[in-house]
Amino acid sequence: MLDVEKIREDFPILKRKINGKRLIYLDNAATTQKPRQVVAAIVKFYFNYNANVHRGFHTLSQEASQAYEEAHEVLAKFINAYSWEEIIDVSNTTDGLNLIAWGWGLNNLQPNDEIVVTVMDHHSNMLPWRAVAEKTNAKVKYVDITEEGTLNYDELERIISEKTKVIAFPMASNVVGTINDVRRIARLAHSVGAIAVGDGAQYVPHVPTNVRELELDFIAFSGHKMLGPTGIGVLWGRKDILESMKPFRVGGDTIKEVTLDSVVWHDLPWRFVAGTPNIAGMIGLAEAAKYLMRLGMENVREHDVILVNETLKRFKELGDEVVVLGPKDPRMRTGLVAFNVKDLHHHTVGKALDLLGIAVRTGGHCAHPLHYRLGFNGSIRASYYIYNTLEEVETFVETLKLIISLKERLAKEPVEEVCPGT
Ligand code: ALA
Repeated sequence: MLDVEKIREDFPILKRKINGKRLIYLDNAATTQKPRQVVAAIVKFYFNYNANVHRGFHTLSQEASQAYEEAHEVLAKFINAYSWEEIIDVSNTTDGLNLIAWGWGLNNLQPNDEIVVTVMDHHSNMLPWRAVAEKTNAKVKYVDITEEGTLNYDELERIISEKTKVIAFPMASNVVGTINDVRRIARLAHSVGAIAVGDGAQYVPHVPTNVRELELDFIAFSGHKMLGPTGIGVLWGRKDILESMKPFRVGGDTIKEVTLDSVVWHDLPWRFVAGTPNIAGMIGLAEAAKYLMRLGMENVREHDVILVNETLKRFKELGDEVVVLGPKDPRMRTGLVAFNVKDLHHHTVGKALDLLGIAVRTGGHCAHPLHYRLGFNGSIRASYYIYNTLEEVETFVETLKLIISLKERLAKEPVEEVCPGT
């Protein structure tokens, strides 16, 4: 069990008031808050040993290089990678998925090869593969979801064949919350000789992740969704596949030697890290991973289940006023619940919640096709992390009751589209 009150002390932002109410931050699937320890590690780097890495013999550069390399080791430990060389720093999940699509896909896909993605994907996993398919004349196929909001595994088994070269899928959904059967999908991919790519954005921060057990070939995840800074993430890949790949972005640190007509690419992971890397970001992200490892990822997972269970239980009091997207069983979900309120636009509900101090995300959550498949053009999403409490769930549900009781008046309010396309 997590000691949530103690954890909350590490997050000064949680003391903020929004519109006179204590902030209840339920937008963790978009980005999490950052503990003092992460911010302190970044400040320490900038104030004490800021220098470029792998470029100098002076003391500061040596210290920075050491901390930066150690960060790769910490992140390797966090996901039980075989080696720190499998940890490629990227800017976020989207960037990591693009690196595979362009770095692997462009060189390995032939016309009429097939790429399998899912209706459950968010745009970050769907669009890079679609773009690479356009360039290579490969075909994109979609696996549908069931009525319960799980992946349709029967359909997946039906549509894969020796033409399938990639299966890329969300390890956990950012809308329906479903945790997918990662190993089953990886095994299906390998049974037809395809690579298996896991979009780990909503999984790695919430579920103990052991890459050796999951049997995937690649996993991409973002630092900012697991207490780390923005602008840094990880692409983990199997060493033999990474070694077979040419860098997708070239320059700076990607080389061992360059002449006017030749280039020798660097070893892993530097071959894929072009230019000065996000040194502070990697140091901050490693600190975040250490923080989570101290808590224990099993406990982080259990805390999600407790909060989601309570939310789904309390939502029953709202009857048919609320439609929940995704599985009813909290154990099948990561730490989020997306829903709609009957006769109220999702943005109207989000704005009303904000007026009462509660931050949720509203819109299409970068997963428009999934919303359309479910018959909506958006939803309201409450997403939890280690500092959220049962009392916050209680206040959230009571506030929703209040909003529903004011429905007739609120429905007349103009709908504000704050960020089109979200
Ligand atoms: N970052 C996006 C989210 O909030 C995809 O789920």
